[in-house]
Amino acid sequence: MSVDHPSNDRHSIDDLIRARRTNMFVDRERPLSDDVIHELCELATWAPNHKRNWPWRFASVTGGGRSRLGRVVSNAMAAHGDDPNKVTKALTKYERTPNILIIGSIVGDTDERTAENRDAVAAAAQNLMLAATARGIATYWGSCPRGSHEAVADFAGFDPGTHIVGIFYMGHQSATMEVPVRPDPVINVIDN
Ligand SMILES: Cc1cc2nc3c(=O)[nH]c(=O)nc-3n(C[C@H](O)[C@H](O)[C@H](O)COP(=O)(O)O)c2cc1C
Repeated sequence: MSVDHPSNDRHSIDDLIRARRTNMFVDRERPLSDDVIHELCELATWAPNHKRNWPWRFASVTGGGRSRLGRVVSNAMAAHGDDPNKVTKALTKYERTPNILIIGSIVGDTDERTAENRDAVAAAAQNLMLAATARGIATYWGSCPRGSHEAVADFAGFDPGTHIVGIFYMGHQSATMEVPVRPDPVINVIDN
């Protein structure tokens, strides 16, 4: 498959990268269509991945699935001895946006490959978030709560052992977030 070279409009790419914000301000009444979710996941798969093993897994959660996810996470957190306030909050937290996307990373045949898979899936997640930003879709990367990876992987229909890279809150963006100041990158220069 050949792909046209992207435009040389470097500024628009730079601006897009800077425009992405962790943002949960969304239109709660307007879920993203299945087609849009598919489009974003397809764009995620253009991320580099070692040995072309396509290590990402996706599960789209909407409607009543969100409260079911909340119960699964809440139960796992309680079993793990988590703070009771957080356990209660987890019951409804996935209903804050109309769409939830669970992104997992498969186990590799060595620990090193498993770690590389997670690196690749993080790159895929960034692809997805940038493509979402370009479409006016807000994304918010949430961690899978401690002790609930196994239960969430099972809920998502992923193979046992799949690491949950993130539980992403998504929806049509309704407000913008303040842009935080970014510290300048530290670059060690080694030239001889
Ligand atoms: C691996 C990973 C896990 C994250 N988990 C959470 C989380 O559980 N809760 C949260 O509020 N933000 C989470 N974030 C989002 C960061 O807080 C956010 O990226 C950071 O504040 C910078 O803001 P920005 O994304 O708008 O630049 C996570 C980000 C990454 C990369």
